[in-house]
Amino acid sequence: MKALEGVRILDFTHVQSGPTCTQLLAWFGADVIKVERPGVGDITRGQLRDLPDADSLYFTMLNHNKRSITLNTKTADGKKVLEALIKQCDVMVENFAPGALDRMGFTWERIQELNPAMIVASIKGFGPGPYQDCKVYENVAQCTGGAASTTGFRDGLPLVTGAQIGDSGTGLHLCLGIVTALYQRTRTGRGQKVSAAMQDGVLNLCRVKLRDQQRLAHGPLKEYSQYGEGIEFGDTVPRAGNDSGGGQPGRILKCKGWETDPNAYIYFITQAPVWEAICDVIGEPGWKTDPDYAKPDARLPRLEEIFARIEKWTQTLVKFEVMDILNARDIPCGPILSMKELAEDASLRATGTVVEVEHPVRGTYLSVGNPIKLSDSPTEVRRSPLLGEHTDEILREVLQFDDETIADLQKGGALGDLVKMAAE
Ligand code: COA
Repeated sequence: MKALEGVRILDFTHVQSGPTCTQLLAWFGADVIKVERPGVGDITRGQLRDLPDADSLYFTMLNHNKRSITLNTKTADGKKVLEALIKQCDVMVENFAPGALDRMGFTWERIQELNPAMIVASIKGFGPGPYQDCKVYENVAQCTGGAASTTGFRDGLPLVTGAQIGDSGTGLHLCLGIVTALYQRTRTGRGQKVSAAMQDGVLNLCRVKLRDQQRLAHGPLKEYSQYGEGIEFGDTVPRAGNDSGGGQPGRILKCKGWETDPNAYIYFITQAPVWEAICDVIGEPGWKTDPDYAKPDARLPRLEEIFARIEKWTQTLVKFEVMDILNARDIPCGPILSMKELAEDASLRATGTVVEVEHPVRGTYLSVGNPIKLSDSPTEVRRSPLLGEHTDEILREVLQFDDETIADLQKGGALGDLVKMAAE
């Protein structure tokens, strides 16, 4: 069996943050029923399309293992179907703009009336406060959660990162809240609200920077390059370039081929316990005993010089050679891997972290599989549903509706044009 077998999710999510969460639940075995607007569906189906008339990779890569029902929940009939679904599901997950669910008529109180055991999980941009009504996308969350002000170089603009810490990061947070609430429900029998704000999620991931903010009151942040460069600190955490976020100084260094390959670099960490091995490998054995270099504190004002010397060595080798030599000596490092290299990585394919998926319209595509591996609940990645592909199946199997009821719903327009959608 799968870990969440028997759990039914009413998936009212769209774009990236919510779908990340419900995809994980589906991978763990929950029956995820994605409710979409007839004829339109999740907006991402049509965004950043690489193939005409095929669901985009944006959509397919975030909606595996789900079923899709099309339903206009703003019609009276659509609301009745949604009410029936609420009674049959364990969890509702939504990431509409603030107030949208209430405007649709599905307040927390109403949902509780329909199903007191239901867990209602929501992602919003902000928690309660001055910005609670704002619509929020990924980069807004990165900027308001502290990531942008601390990313980039000191003398450059704040930067957003490619890792979707606002959307996918908050989806992960919400997912943990949901399984925790499901566990609590096994003892209380009651549902509860689970809320994750994107600003909070990003700040949680920037925890070390709030640490540094407080350390600033007690002196300069000595592991930041700026300290070694003799540049004074202000009253807020500066951008630290590629400095390591932990207590072990690290940098991105050039490797052989950097002049033409934008990813011929390696992250090198001068971890204190392996300092002697580093000195040997780069050809500076004297630094093992020289009082200016032997101890971590002595090295802090000299990091520029030290990393320049290490880079002189890394530039003589390709990044994978550097990795092999350093790993043999337990020196922590990480080559900068391009998306192309990751897509072709045999070990990621072997573990199912990178998977090939078959899709009836778009053919074979690559996706990131479930990064969380459960030994007793393996993940099989199944393609995302076509828009409304399971409408009929869900009405019959989950809601036990008969032919006549379904025909009436179709006539009234609550489900949209099923024939047309199946062909899309
Ligand atoms: N049937 C009928 N109406 C539906 C529907 C359905 N099946 N599904 C959605 N709708 C309606 C909603 O009720 C809403 O109507 P309303 O504005 O009249 O109340 C409307 O569709 C649009 O929903 P909304 O969430 O406002 O979409 P948007 O495209 O305007 O905004 C976001 C998108 C992401 C900015 C916004 O949803 C948001 O801020 N979400 C929370 C934060 C978040 O998750 N952001 C990251 C997304 S990756």
